[in-house]
Amino acid sequence: MAQPPPDVEGDDCLPAYRHLFCPDLLRDKVAFITGGGSGIGFRIAEIFMRHGCHTVIASRSLPRVLTAEAAGLLSASLPGFQAARKLAGATGRRCLPLSMDVRAPPAIVAAVDQALKEFGRIDILINCAAGNFLCPAGALSFNAFKTVMDIDTSGTFNVSRVLYEKFFRDHGGVIVNITATLGNRGQALQVHAGSAKAAVDAMTRHLAVEWGPQNIRVNSLAPGPISGTEGLRRLGGPQASLSTRVTASPLQRLGNKTEIAHSVLYLASPLASYVTGAVLVADGGAWLTFPNDVKGLADFASFSAKL
Ligand code: HXC
Ligand code: NAP
Repeated sequence: MAQPPPDVEGDDCLPAYRHLFCPDLLRDKVAFITGGGSGIGFRIAEIFMRHGCHTVIASRSLPRVLTAEAAGLLSASLPGFQAARKLAGATGRRCLPLSMDVRAPPAIVAAVDQALKEFGRIDILINCAAGNFLCPAGALSFNAFKTVMDIDTSGTFNVSRVLYEKFFRDHGGVIVNITATLGNRGQALQVHAGSAKAAVDAMTRHLAVEWGPQNIRVNSLAPGPISGTEGLRRLGGPQASLSTRVTASPLQRLGNKTEIAHSVLYLASPLASYVTGAVLVADGGAWLTFPNDVKGLADFASFSAKL
């Protein structure tokens, strides 16, 4: 069976949802989701909440998630953040939006403290925050490479480390790192993100080994090309060429955000109680057959490197 569940393109909740897993799978658990205000992270938050979980969604820009009403009329201290409001409205569970840069440990500490004050516990960490763009290695500045490593790799370590210190070491927990298959075959124009995500997959194994005795499971989930996301908008290229590449992959279609959220739900739930240190690839088999865009390098030939 490879029939996808329905999804919507934007950062909106699903108009209807049919449970495949038990609706109580995460009843009264609390998940801290970086990058939870948009794209795949938003849908993970929604699907978790539809399974009884409360969530914290953390990213840099609260203004982006402010409602027009709140932005115009209300102070930011009022509980009026758009993504959180949508999520809570659709699911009846609580969602706390927090502003935090995963590159800034003091901000992470403050956010985790606030989440613990609000909920008294955090059971699950989803490291979904990331940054990416297409650029050949020969045109990538030192700072551009470092920026993606800082957000994706150091950011994942920073948030995991704080959660470990503040709660998981004494209570156990589950971490799911959202990665990618870019480094498996050395995808062109992606040395920064491919290296960063490969390092996160290694981190998954290291932390699974070191933190297993504290009853902390750590796994990676590597999505393929997913519709309705910023990642696909930035990296997909022209529609016609994307369609050709996608139909050449085993399941011959893009994935959707709900499919990714279902895979993350499995890893975060007791269904995966004996799974740790694993990388689950949810990509319809795409990385096995996706063309490597060496010709795309030519399009960047005039782009000058700033070192
Ligand atoms: C080359 C670029 C660039 C580009 C930025 N830089 N964009 N270089 N091509 N398109 C360089 C800048 O010139 C600068 O280097 C350095 O990167 C830092 O840029 P800033 O804009 O100062 O960084 P910052 O404000 O921290 O923003 C980070 C960002 C931005 C990654 C550059 O795009 C961002 O915030 N992205 C978040 C959303 C996102 O990317 N979502 C998609 C995730 S998809 P210099 O040398 O000039 O100082 C994904 C995987 C998808 O992760 C896989 C699909 C199969
Ligand atoms: P997205 O909506 O842009 O998600 C990235 C999120 O990270 C945003 O919510 C962003 O919010 C947050 N973020 C970025 N930098 C941050 C920082 N320094 N601190 C805190 N938060 C930060 O893109 P997406 O496509 O859904 O990607 C989600 C995840 O899936 C990423 O890990 C990505 O690598 C992975 N992935 C996506 C695809 C795909 O096809 N889309 C494929 C493989 C892997 P702010 O801007 O508010 O900070």
